[in-house]
Amino acid sequence: MTDLSTLRDETLAAIAAANDEAALEAARVAALGKKGTISALLATLGKMTPDERRSAGAAINALKDEATGALAARRAALKALALDARLKREALDMSLPLRRAAIDAGRIHPISQVFDEIVAIFADMGFSIAEGPDIESDDYNFTKLNFPPGHPAREMHDTFFFAPDASGERKLLRTHTSPVQVRTMLAQKPPIRIVCPGRTYRCDADQTHTPMFHQVEGLVIDKSATLAHLKWVLEEFCKAFFEVPKVGMRFRPSFFPFTSPSMEVDIQCRRSGGEIRFGEGEDWLEILGCGMVHANVLKNCGLDPDVYQGYAWGMGIDRIAMLKYGLPDLRDFFDADLRWIDHYGFKPLDAPTLAGGLSG
Ligand code: DAH
Repeated sequence: MTDLSTLRDETLAAIAAANDEAALEAARVAALGKKGTISALLATLGKMTPDERRSAGAAINALKDEATGALAARRAALKALALDARLKREALDMSLPLRRAAIDAGRIHPISQVFDEIVAIFADMGFSIAEGPDIESDDYNFTKLNFPPGHPAREMHDTFFFAPDASGERKLLRTHTSPVQVRTMLAQKPPIRIVCPGRTYRCDADQTHTPMFHQVEGLVIDKSATLAHLKWVLEEFCKAFFEVPKVGMRFRPSFFPFTSPSMEVDIQCRRSGGEIRFGEGEDWLEILGCGMVHANVLKNCGLDPDVYQGYAWGMGIDRIAMLKYGLPDLRDFFDADLRWIDHYGFKPLDAPTLAGGLSG
């Protein structure tokens, strides 16, 4: 029976050498398939004498069982190997830092947030948004706003001037958002009710001043706009913006060439331990300038001061953003430091609304 033992060795070796499902199936077909070597031996049993069959039959059947067992064992081993390989391939390193979902990456800058908050509040009161260019003419930035050439108030603006152009005109970076008042009055008839948030520029830099900063201007012109209305609008704005039920406000006489009378407005606050609270306390903090639009400005913009009157105000956005959100240094706003924006920025889908909450 050397034949049988050779066949056994060859069959078991082929099974053991099968490295994947297909090779194992080939080994099975070669041994136990219809035309397989062991099947061929089994087929010879029918032609044997009963005695031959008794001895050879047992050996052949034992070989068949052994091959079947080896096939099953190899199949199980291959399965385990495949599982191991897959586990290795799909392994996750739980110690790696999380990658943020796209929706959660990126933040709204506090300035943009405060822009949106201001717009939400004034839009709710029926104001429209107006805009003007950053590069402005001397005429709109100063002259039409009743700063005649040579007026000392011009010097207080630390203006960035451009070199004179071919016609000799010297453009400038607007020093305030007030020229948008001029543009609006020249372009549309009263009643006018606008706010203009935007960038402004002055040659100045320290912890609370940067050469580029932001303001929001407000302007109301019609036949009967009064200081009382101005006071109400500003009070409603402050309550909504600082998200408090009441604010103490103080209107102090001041001077701006484009308003008469002119005032500066302080709001009541309490400072303690680096924190500041609005609507209570014994401190006062200046937040804006305002007044009744000067008759000369109305005239310069083609409006008859005997028919129309109005009020205006201008407020530093960076400053109220710093106050509201506890940001200590204005220069950080413009450093483009991702760690800072991650910490102080706002979630992109939390748009400020009066109904849903301004600051989320
Ligand atoms: N333009 C002024 C400034 O930058 C702020 C200001 C004050 C604007 C009074 C106004 C106003 O409209 O009425 O200092």
